[in-house]
Amino acid sequence: MKRRAVLGAGAAALGAAGIGWSLLTPKLPGKLLHSRAPLPRPFEARLAIPAVLAGEEIVQREADLAILPGLTTRAWTYNGSFPGPTVVTRSGRAATVMHRNQLPEPVVVHLHGGHTPAGSDGYPIDQIMPLPPAAVHHDMATMAGDTTVGARTYRYPMQQRAATLWYHDHRMGFTGPAVYRGLAGFHLVRDDEEDALPLPRGERELPLMITDRAFEEDGSFRYPLGDADYMNGVLGDVILVNGRPWPVHEVDPARYRLRLLNASNARRYRLQFDPQPPGGDAFVQIGSDGGLLTRPMGHDTLELAPAERFDVVVDFARWKPGTKIRLIDRDGGDVMRFDVTGPKTDDPSRVPPVLSTSAEPLPPPKRSRTFRFGQGRDGTWRINDLTYQPGRALARPRLGEVEHWRFVTDFHHPIHLHLNHFQVVSRNANEIGEYDRGWKDTVDLRASEAVEIAVRFTDYTGTFMLHCHNLEHEDMAMMADFVVEP
Ligand code: C2O
Ligand code: CU
Repeated sequence: MKRRAVLGAGAAALGAAGIGWSLLTPKLPGKLLHSRAPLPRPFEARLAIPAVLAGEEIVQREADLAILPGLTTRAWTYNGSFPGPTVVTRSGRAATVMHRNQLPEPVVVHLHGGHTPAGSDGYPIDQIMPLPPAAVHHDMATMAGDTTVGARTYRYPMQQRAATLWYHDHRMGFTGPAVYRGLAGFHLVRDDEEDALPLPRGERELPLMITDRAFEEDGSFRYPLGDADYMNGVLGDVILVNGRPWPVHEVDPARYRLRLLNASNARRYRLQFDPQPPGGDAFVQIGSDGGLLTRPMGHDTLELAPAERFDVVVDFARWKPGTKIRLIDRDGGDVMRFDVTGPKTDDPSRVPPVLSTSAEPLPPPKRSRTFRFGQGRDGTWRINDLTYQPGRALARPRLGEVEHWRFVTDFHHPIHLHLNHFQVVSRNANEIGEYDRGWKDTVDLRASEAVEIAVRFTDYTGTFMLHCHNLEHEDMAMMADFVVEP
């Protein structure tokens, strides 16, 4: 009933503007931006696996990357690569990452999925100013947060379970263009529970960051900065996996662990293999945003909203050697290809029937809150009809308490919470969806849906973020503070 009320309000606003609801509301978020550069054919590039970070320092700098044949792409990078280096840390062992900013603009680093104290969480106005400071345009001087010049050390206690996290830029109003230009990388947390499982590892464990981009004629990234036509999200016409256009990867006929991350600004994916293996259930999901599921779960298709991660095991021995298996997006075409080569090899890996015991449901909530995600008449994206304002908290949960948060919307919004992972408890007042299992930090809220989550706020007080992870929506103010109080 509530859901219908929200829809009604949106429709009324549009009616007042004299435009039909269905005409204005596209089926999927985002608007396609076409490349001006000649594009390669799919499956000509090799998949690359980002290097693991050595040491504890990352330099943010411009670099010329070879993405399209014959052209270079001037990108914003972590240590000169896109994706940035993969940070690998150990559960329970505190880590620090010092970021130096050699880019021409301020940056902010957020560890997405990190259980991180407020001071290191990448609050959007806690910027690292570039050097020399004279180069800074003080466009947001009035919103100066806890700002540093040239560098900042982020401290991660890593009191959290093994999971596929990622780090990316989070600057107020500029997260979309900064991530699009290349500021994103993996951060893998490992722990003993996961190490003890016979999952595929080494060369058979692949982090795969999926993004879409458009390119200018000279090979640079094409982004419609400030173009109101794209405030529903920017979609590129090239799919990059780990920064390569529609790459190919040769695999043994054996099990592989794929850590899939949708790091696209606005594009959603419905991933499927073509051909599918006999018997279906090609993707055996073992984990979600917050690490291992209790039990594995088979899927034919995986739906990934922006920022979601799916940790899956795929057994390439289920296809005949020699098969070229396309990974496709059912809504958008090719993503990458796996070529099964070589004879049957030794495969010591398995997917055990029980993966983890640390995912019992949370106890009943101390209180419930509702957050409505919608668009204002001025086109801004809003939460509870408010555009983002640093320092204005929409919720003040108490440390240690469980709350239920209900997200309602008229349109697609992937909703992300900082600080703690949560459990989805219902979708449209019903059972949770096929992709809602386990510990999540981003939940896919689709048109006209209501999703309820349970979350316990633990360990750290202070100001954290709740926002839409469609980065154009986020930059257009669909973000809110919540303050965890002692
Ligand atoms: Cu991945 Cu607040 O963001
Ligand atoms: Cu959104």
